[in-house]
Amino acid sequence: MKTPIIECHRLEKWYSGVHALKNVSLTVNRGEAVGLVGDNGAGKSTLIKILSGVHEPDAGSIRIEGRDVRIRNPRQAMELGLETIYQYNSMVPTMTIARNVFIGREPLTWSLFGFGWMDKKKMDRESVQAIADVDLHLRSPEALVGELSGGQRQGVAIARAMHFKSKVLILDEPTNHLSVKETDKVIGFVRDLKKQNVTGIFISHNMQHVFQCCDRIVAMARGEIVFDRPVGETSIDEVHGYL
Ligand SMILES: Nc1ncnc2c1ncn2[C@@H]1O[C@H](COP(=O)(O)OP(=O)(O)OP(=O)(O)O)[C@@H](O)[C@H]1O
Ligand SMILES: [Mg+2]
Repeated sequence: MKTPIIECHRLEKWYSGVHALKNVSLTVNRGEAVGLVGDNGAGKSTLIKILSGVHEPDAGSIRIEGRDVRIRNPRQAMELGLETIYQYNSMVPTMTIARNVFIGREPLTWSLFGFGWMDKKKMDRESVQAIADVDLHLRSPEALVGELSGGQRQGVAIARAMHFKSKVLILDEPTNHLSVKETDKVIGFVRDLKKQNVTGIFISHNMQHVFQCCDRIVAMARGEIVFDRPVGETSIDEVHGYL
């Protein structure tokens, strides 16, 4: 048996009076694409925020590749190879595509005492490559992210995660407000993660989408995991019955 990439063990999370996660244990294997579904307020985003270092659990433990970890902030999550893409993702619309690809990881031509000159040529070159690698075709690395469509922005965010060799890509409702065509593209991205041995956790309210690109369906209801089964052994109707 290979060591799972993620093991959450008995996680609990309270937001003052709200018990958002109740005894949540979840194991995800490397290269798997897990669809996380559930009604509004089920606790999906809370679980993901714990994995991405936005919140810490009140109880329970997390292992990444078999090692006990505490994920105290988003940077630590990134260092562990966990990258999260939100519906309105972390890109800066007023900056270029190239700058957004390298945000927080800018290569420097020289540096002194932590200050330096950004290597713009390298950023341009590598961002073009990163974007081509996910089969996204954009005019120029100089274009501002604010001028891209929602689907293109998600594409750039995914290109960034792939370029920096994230081990796990978590997508929290990445297709909200996207056109049908753009949504298909994002679903294609999720389906292709496996080819690069990247693990995916895909949250969506659209059961069809999840069934199209995931290997396994995990459903949450009222803070608990209530269903967990391979896609091939269940149906949309059955999953609905658990929500
Ligand atoms: N920052 C917060 N402060 C207080 N309560 C919160 C906070 N974030 C979430 N909650 C509550 O925790 C519960 C779980 O919310 P969560 O956002 O995890 O649900 P979700 O499954 O992602 O729902 P949705 O599908 O609507 O995004 C809800 O009752 C929600 O109101
Ligand atoms: Mg949510």
